[in-house]
Formats: sequence, C-alpha cells, structure tokens
Amino acid sequence: MKRIAVLTSGGDSPGMNAAIRAVTRSAIAEGLEVYGVMRGFEGLLDKEIHPLRVRDVGGIIHRGGTILQTARSERFRTPAGQDKAVENLMSLGIDALAVIGGDGSFRGAAEIERRGLPVVGIPGTIDNDIGATDLTIGFRTAVETALDAVMRLRDTASSHDRLFIVEVMGRRSGFIALDVAVAGGAEAVLVPEVPFSLGRLIDKLHAARQKGKTHSLIILSEGVMGASELRERIQDTGGYDARVTVLGHIQRGGSPCAMDIILASQMGMAAVAALLSGETRCMTGASCGRIEVVPLERSWEEKKRLDAELMEIVEVLSI
Ligand code: F6P
Repeated sequence: MKRIAVLTSGGDSPGMNAAIRAVTRSAIAEGLEVYGVMRGFEGLLDKEIHPLRVRDVGGIIHRGGTILQTARSERFRTPAGQDKAVENLMSLGIDALAVIGGDGSFRGAAEIERRGLPVVGIPGTIDNDIGATDLTIGFRTAVETALDAVMRLRDTASSHDRLFIVEVMGRRSGFIALDVAVAGGAEAVLVPEVPFSLGRLIDKLHAARQKGKTHSLIILSEGVMGASELRERIQDTGGYDARVTVLGHIQRGGSPCAMDIILASQMGMAAVAALLSGETRCMTGASCGRIEVVPLERSWEEKKRLDAELMEIVEVLSI
C-alpha cells in the first residue's frame, strides 16, 4: 500500500478535522502518500481529489466543520456512480480509502470495497447512532453545545415561570436528547426509540405544578414530532405559558471538545494502522474507553440502545 485517500461524508460533526489530521499525519509517518477527497462521495465522482501534506492539515485540530467539506450524494447511490467513483480512485493509483461519516456513508464505503478497493470507516456524526461503537466523533461536543443553550433557557424559564420545549437533533435516535435531559435537569425527554403518552406527560406537568414547581423543561428529539406541535398539544390542556426553542444546526458547529479531539486522533491513527495491517471493510470503534477495529457492517446491523438507566434518572429526579 502506497497511497490512501480520505473523505468526510453525510452531516458534518465537530472533530472531523482532527480525524483528517490524524489519518493524514499517521499515514505520512508510515511512508504513505495521502489524498483528500472534497465533498464526500460527490468529490469522488467529480475527481476532486488532491494531495494532503503534513502542513495542509496544520491549524485545523480545533476547528469545527470539515476542511474537505461534505455532502449527501444522490449520484453515488447508483451502481454506475459507484463504478465511476472506484474508477477515479484507481486512476490516481489510490490503494485504499478512509471514510469519516455515519452508517449511510459506511454502506457507500462497502460498495467501494465490493469493487476491489480496501476501505476503513471512522464514525463521525453528532447523532451517536452507529452500532459497534460507544461513541462517535462529534457527539460529545454536540451535547455540550445543546446543554449550554439549555442552561441559558433555564434562567429565563425560571424568571417567567414558563415551560420550555427544546428540540434537539436526532431524526432516528435520542442519544443527544437523553444526555442533554439528564445534564439539564429536564422534567421529561421524548425520544424516537421510546413510545410516549401525551396524557402521562400532561399529568406529570400538572402534578408538578400542584406541588409548587413553577417552571419546567422538556427535551424533544426532532424525530418524535415538531416542538411547535407539542407546544400546541400541551398548551391546550391547562394554560401553560410554553415557549419553543429549536436548536437545529447550531449543534453541528463549533470547536470540538477535548474528548472529541482525542477520540478523532485515536480513531484516525487506528484506521491507518488497520489498512496497513491488511484489514478492510472495517471500522474503528470505541468500546469501554478502548479503540478497536470491527467489521463495517456492524455499524448498521447492530442497533445501539439508549441507556435505560439514564431514562429512569430523568423520570425519578424530576419529581
Ligand atoms: O446526521 C446528523 C444530523 O444532524 C441529524 O441529527 C439531523 O437530523 C440531520 O443531520 C440534518 O441533516 P441536514 O443537515 O442535511 O439537514
């Protein structure tokens, strides 16, 4: 193996730059040449593939977003697109590809591997919804960002005796919502994985009010319903002075926290080491604080579960 390429794909996440830096520098330290692909699989199709040298990845370790940019590529989903992507990589003499992204991007990477080019995945998404890894790059930063907003909202909620509904990201998963709810001392958390009863939620809010609770906080995962819809449904049941905040893409931006930079550095190095030792169709995962290399398909075949104890903590401590 002489030459590898790296790309970022899907939604960006804080720490992707630190992962690009780790892949690039550890590969160069091993005597490899490194190429960066712009805009994920789109850049593979358009052959936007440029050399990355040691200095090209200087000064990016602390920056949010991704210097390689990213995309959700429709063109790459077709067999013709996948053939073209592999042809473009091979025409540049690239021997392997590192894909930093979520499980959708890893399915794309598996198609590249099926056509003969070794691939390694590095899990990067704020959603933390990838199987076979405890953590994904960007998740912890997104939780901190959302929590910072929630703490500000708590101040104004208490000043006005209001109910705040805060919508956080996570179309299919409630990892961000659950951590933010526990750390933010929320009255309730609504996540796509756990069915919820509006009646029970309203009863709980009423009961809390009767016991003297003046303000409340609900953390809502975007995959459950829109925050405004929830507000309408709650407000009609007892004159709540409810307000809605949708945090949106703010959660995807900003500098990565230390733990995300460390995770990205560990995983970037482990990905290069895996390719050099002949592994392919694999992914770096974090398991109980250790980095391991696991089969790529585990990322989408294994459904990572929300921590039931954390759900209970929200329920019990919000009385
Ligand atoms: O994949 C991460 C994520 O931020 C999800 O939480 C969110 O639902 C989605 O991406 C938003 O995607 P887009 O940036 O394409 O609107």
